[in-house]
Amino acid sequence: MAKKKVQSAFFCQNCGTQSPKWLGKCPQCNEWNTFVEEVIEKEEKTKTWNGLNKVSIPVSINDISFAKEKRIKTSDIELNRVLGGGIVPGSVVLLGGDPGIGKSTLLLQLALTSEKKILYVSGEESESQIKMRAQRVENSSRNCLILTETSTQNIFQQIEKVQPEILIIDSVQTLHTTHIDSSPGSVSQIRECTSEMIKYAKQTGTSVFLIGHINKDGAIAGPKILEHMVDTVLQFEGDRNHVYRILRTIKNRFGSASELGVYEMAQSGLREVNNPSEILISDRDEETSGVAIAVTIEGARPLMIEIQSLVSSAVYGTPQRSATSFDTRRLNMLLAVLEKRCGFRLGVKDVFLNITGGIKPDDTAIDLAVICSVLSSDQDKPIGMQVCFAAEVGLSGEIRAVNRIEQRIAEAEKLGYKQIIISKFNKFNPSAFNIEIKQCSKIEEVFRLLF
Ligand code: TYD
Ligand code: MG
Repeated sequence: MAKKKVQSAFFCQNCGTQSPKWLGKCPQCNEWNTFVEEVIEKEEKTKTWNGLNKVSIPVSINDISFAKEKRIKTSDIELNRVLGGGIVPGSVVLLGGDPGIGKSTLLLQLALTSEKKILYVSGEESESQIKMRAQRVENSSRNCLILTETSTQNIFQQIEKVQPEILIIDSVQTLHTTHIDSSPGSVSQIRECTSEMIKYAKQTGTSVFLIGHINKDGAIAGPKILEHMVDTVLQFEGDRNHVYRILRTIKNRFGSASELGVYEMAQSGLREVNNPSEILISDRDEETSGVAIAVTIEGARPLMIEIQSLVSSAVYGTPQRSATSFDTRRLNMLLAVLEKRCGFRLGVKDVFLNITGGIKPDDTAIDLAVICSVLSSDQDKPIGMQVCFAAEVGLSGEIRAVNRIEQRIAEAEKLGYKQIIISKFNKFNPSAFNIEIKQCSKIEEVFRLLF
């Protein structure tokens, strides 16, 4: 009898690079001390997914029949949007996010509301825990089957019995395959299990959703190549202290990679937010100083966000600068512009800046709103409630043009703003809008306009 060969190799826990011996520094990702020994034991006899053993042959591209790809529309509009218009049959979607952010809730809701037959495989929770969650979200569907299992061999056995149209795995880190002898969650296990799932999805046309944990840097735990292997990578973000959650596309082979979905975590599960701009702006009865509204673009959608600041005389020798959801270095730069170019004495003041709603905009078009909010608080003069801003501020205090200005103006008009302040250098068709559009080239001009 041939002796089973036990093999082991070292894997970088950061990027998944394999090496026959231990290395101090990964040659791929340059991380230190990330190599861990994992046993890889290959038994050639038990192939995992052997439902169909098709052999591919080359075909002429003209002979490939192509029916317009049918997408499975879910009842969740936001999810359809981030997937690029629905679930593509045979696609593999990886959903990452912080613990407790709502990944399991999102996909369980998908399973409970869909008309398709869905198998929800959980390696993290028991059946009764899943039932408890399902009762909270108050949707029941007879098409949803629950399986608590972590071995891919057993999962595939059940799959052959029930033949689901959509498979959900919660989470890929709990899966293990007998092909490989290392523990669940290790790089070689995650990689092997994912490739089995991908093979299954491609051969049967079943859509597979994989939930993935993320590590402390925010990347999906496990090898980076996981993201290369799957078709779509979605990221669920948000501050756990806020009720709003953002579902972002990071990669999508079947659609735009800059889409965004907004949800609200309620008592009874996740609810779609159809008009995110409204929720990001707090209700105000009267004008308060230090508040300015900016129009930013997140993904492909314009969003109105509220910027609040507080400027007060520094109590201690060194003034404090603190920003929530905004880059402190950029705030310092904007304050320096105000000080040097416009002569405002902010060097002796504490400045606190806050963007409400827990969203972290990555868009320089909010610069002007930041500056106006700081000035408004400094002068203690409110900015009119019907005014909003969309422009970048340069180092010499000039107001610069931003992209997709027409989309921004349209959003401001839709939400009932009366005036938007933008750069003089932005070109657009003025007859298309009903809102008053003020174009400025210097901060002083904006200042004169407002106060
Ligand atoms: P969960 O989906 O378990 O997160 P993940 O799978 O990403 O770890 O989300 C759990 C959180 O959501 C938990 O803190 C409770 C909250 N929650 C609600 O507020 N309302 C609900 O209806 C549900 C089901 C969960
Ligand atoms: Mg979970």
